[in-house]
Amino acid sequence: MRRFAHIARLSILPGALLLLAACGQKESSAPSADAAAPVAAGEVNLYTTREPGLIQPLLDAFTAQTGTKVNTVFVRDGLLERVRAEGERSPADVLMTVDTGNLLDLVDGGQTQPIDSQVLADAIPSHLRGADGQWFALSLRDRILYADKDLDLTGFTYEELADPKWKDKVCIRSGQHPYNTSLIAALIAHDGVEKTEAWLRGVKANLARKAAGGDRDVARDILAGICDIGIANAYYVGRMKNAEEGSEQRQWGDAIKVIRPTFAVENGGTHVNISGAAVAKHAPNRDNAVKLLEYLVSDEAQSLYAKANYEYPVKAGVELDPVVASFGEMTVDALPLTEIAKHRKQASELVDRVGFDN
Ligand SMILES: [Fe+2]
Repeated sequence: MRRFAHIARLSILPGALLLLAACGQKESSAPSADAAAPVAAGEVNLYTTREPGLIQPLLDAFTAQTGTKVNTVFVRDGLLERVRAEGERSPADVLMTVDTGNLLDLVDGGQTQPIDSQVLADAIPSHLRGADGQWFALSLRDRILYADKDLDLTGFTYEELADPKWKDKVCIRSGQHPYNTSLIAALIAHDGVEKTEAWLRGVKANLARKAAGGDRDVARDILAGICDIGIANAYYVGRMKNAEEGSEQRQWGDAIKVIRPTFAVENGGTHVNISGAAVAKHAPNRDNAVKLLEYLVSDEAQSLYAKANYEYPVKAGVELDPVVASFGEMTVDALPLTEIAKHRKQASELVDRVGFDN
């Protein structure tokens, strides 16, 4: 009976109602306390920080294929605090978010459980998931070089950003943004703190403008001639180059070319952050949670997911969005994401120490 109570609580969560309404389902179709069938028969409760529009097509496809209904709760901020506060009564089955740090916070906060799934292990390379199956990457968000489209920069390395030949030519957002602390943490993991500090000072000296704004502003400022190169996430290029012809975003996107840098170490690859998911510690529908995760790494879902938001599939050999495909095959850096995440605090301290954002 306890589980029915969990689900009854879900039906009064504002986010759930909103989403159910948005999917055209009547409120009365929400699970209720007097439901006669066992909940495990056909539902899964997803807590996600991702824009509902991005994932709804996937969830619809999952439901169509399996008959399992997905109740989605969009949690903009404070996912960890939310499930922690709900405790054992939490209806959450799957927790979905972006950024390794956010997933590790859920794990360290005791809000996930280990999942042993051959399907997930086969689809997701081991450096892109947690030890013991506590979390799984579902898509990759590569942090790449935007460059003036007339420059030839094949073979560019992240380390080269600090080369004095780029003085007053580099644009980037705040060093304290998680996208950048993650990149800096990866460099620390590869090269150590001292070398990374020297690198960061070098990049700082090359800045064409204050480290601020967003990733798309790098393309905007390349178009404006303020900088020649910059670091930003790849999926924004998909959005810009697919934007309406004649729109501002489209002009920014058309002004740049994309190079996937690698770390200048043996077998160094391109730095990625992720979107990912975990099964919640108290999941009332654990089996369906695993089923949903396994679906999300199917070829069909990986392709849909990656095309919807221009991210890169975590599974090899999946069809890409044409713009993303035009960037070429990606060699993902082989350092385990958990290893990189350990250096994030150091990375943030370095950003302050060199006055990167000043
Ligand atoms: Fe973003």
